[in-house]
Amino acid sequence: MIVCECKGLTEVGIRNLIREGWNSMPLLEAATGVGGDCGGCWQELARLLAEELDPFPDPRDDLPTN
Ligand code: FES
Repeated sequence: MIVCECKGLTEVGIRNLIREGWNSMPLLEAATGVGGDCGGCWQELARLLAEELDPFPDPRDDLPTN
């Protein structure tokens, strides 16, 4: 699936870059230019980064603390 139409980057390609250490929006943009044109892919990039950096989030993290 294409994530960034402007740069022709796929979800698999972006996930591989994140796993190789390009693990932030600025690093991904520096490596590929992704997100640097129209910005239409930023929301999906953020989702992929969150999934790759914390693939098993603890649902209790979203509970309010008193
Ligand atoms: S779709 Fe990624 S910069 Fe345009």
